[in-house]
Amino acid sequence: MKTYNIALLAGDGTGKEVTDEAVKVLKAIEQKYKVEFNFEPALIGGCAYDKYKTPLPDTTLNLAKSSDAVLLGAVGGWEYDKLPPEVRPERALLGIRKELNLFANLRPAVVYPELTSISPLKEDIAAGTDIMIIRELTGDVYFGTPKGIELKNGEKYGFNNMCYYESEIKRIAHIAFKTAMQRNKKLCSVDKANVLDVSRLWRETVAQVAKEYPQVELTNMYVDNAAMQIIRAPKQFDVILTGNIFGDILSDEASMLAGSLGLLPSASLSDTKPAMYEPIHGSAPDLKGLNIVNPIATILSAAMMLKYSFNMNNEHDDIVKSVRKALKDGFRTKDIALQGMETVSTSKMGDVIYNNILAD
Ligand code: IPM
Ligand code: MG
Repeated sequence: MKTYNIALLAGDGTGKEVTDEAVKVLKAIEQKYKVEFNFEPALIGGCAYDKYKTPLPDTTLNLAKSSDAVLLGAVGGWEYDKLPPEVRPERALLGIRKELNLFANLRPAVVYPELTSISPLKEDIAAGTDIMIIRELTGDVYFGTPKGIELKNGEKYGFNNMCYYESEIKRIAHIAFKTAMQRNKKLCSVDKANVLDVSRLWRETVAQVAKEYPQVELTNMYVDNAAMQIIRAPKQFDVILTGNIFGDILSDEASMLAGSLGLLPSASLSDTKPAMYEPIHGSAPDLKGLNIVNPIATILSAAMMLKYSFNMNNEHDDIVKSVRKALKDGFRTKDIALQGMETVSTSKMGDVIYNNILAD
């Protein structure tokens, strides 16, 4: 029987509640298919800072590096907001992305037919939306140098550097074109080439890579226009390719098409190291311990792990189908319930999906 070692980094706030449900669902997969998962927990974020005075201890990083894949809950909490920037929980996230070379962030934004009524957009605009956002994750203004806050001309001066190497653009572009080949063969690259030099290089480089994928229809869009088009007519998009900071912003925007941050998974992939899977929502510290947050984003992240790290496509589809059945059968956590609807807890939603997997 095949065994996979999964580094389980629950993190802070409601991170443990949602990863517990993803583990539950993976246990259903173990029972149904011939596979075994070893879960190895470790601390990351604020809880790691509390114990080790660093949000990303070496033990956690080494465990992640030696695993077959990493499942992450969320990091952060109000009690850490006053910490110096180098030890804030978010720093652990940036650190692990860089250390594992997770340059390709896949953020699907799908509007499930069972849930079109909770989208803040009109149903006919939202229904059928299925966008894969591919965000570069280890470069751009997030990691560029020089950076800092200094005294200049007698006042404080803050600066960061938005920068990309051609090779960084090429490797993420290849991932985007390959993804488009497996979908509807439409790729929209988003930049700000009318203003930024780094975006001019981005656009040029993507156009070069495009020559290797003649079947994919490539379009380019400025980021301000893209932000507008995602709301105006989301169905025009198949795959969106963009840099780190634009991807950060557009993926939060796109997540709202589905109606709740609690639904959207993500995969962060590398070409050399284990990949990491996490919900796109944060740690929701105010909801910690209440057993009310939505575990679906994390459960779908575990499904992405099966597909992208372990090549288990049937098992991936089985989880997605079981999630959709739970929704069709009317099970709703608070974030996705319309007014007056009965709601279920985090663990109950996990139980329902677990049972759906084993039921058929
Ligand atoms: C995300 C988050 C992170 C980011 C933060 C928490 C550092 O917003 O994963 O989108 O900006 O990348
Ligand atoms: Mg973000």
